[in-house]
Amino acid sequence: MRTKEYNLLLKKLDKNSPVPYELLLSADPSKELVDEYLPTSDVFIVIQQKETVGVIVLFPLTIDTVEIKNVAVKAALQGQGIGSFLIENAIQAAQQKAIKSMIIGTANSSTSQFYLYQKLGFELMEIKKNFFVDHYAEPIFENGIQAKHMLVLEKVLR
Ligand code: ACO
Repeated sequence: MRTKEYNLLLKKLDKNSPVPYELLLSADPSKELVDEYLPTSDVFIVIQQKETVGVIVLFPLTIDTVEIKNVAVKAALQGQGIGSFLIENAIQAAQQKAIKSMIIGTANSSTSQFYLYQKLGFELMEIKKNFFVDHYAEPIFENGIQAKHMLVLEKVLR
């Protein structure tokens, strides 16, 4: 955890607080889908010097499985450990609640995200073919590759 180093404060977003849409939409460009999963999710934000610089959305998929539906860090601060901090905190909190597994989905084009999730202990469990073609109005391109399929990764918690 790099809380001291970066002076980060993690806070659960209450239902009346403003939603950090800019961050959420940088991870998931469909506002329609974001608005679908937000009301039944726990949302945590990370604050640095009074500014919201990151967000993570935890959706209870089943009684003992949580899906990270969205994780995003302000562009200028990416690559400094804030995303790992958010995910590692979510894993710790889930372990304390006896959650058995965490799921995270990413696109076939999101190469650095796929790397990061594996580095944090998630393993590929499923490929949802054409997920991004079927569920998003506009084609999405990253790293010169079209985002077509969702790679679903799981971390089994003990
Ligand atoms: N920029 C820099 N490094 C990245 C990035 C990125 N956009 N994405 C992943 N990485 C890699 C780096 O190689 C680095 O590896 P290293 O530690 O071995 O050097 C590591 O992952 C970086 O880890 P963090 O610094 O902890 O990650 P960061 O704070 O940048 O957060 C995140 C990662 C959330 C993916 C962030 O880059 C981001 O907001 N990206 C745009 C939105 C996005 O794609 N969100 C995820 C979509 S999938 C989903 O929401 C379920």
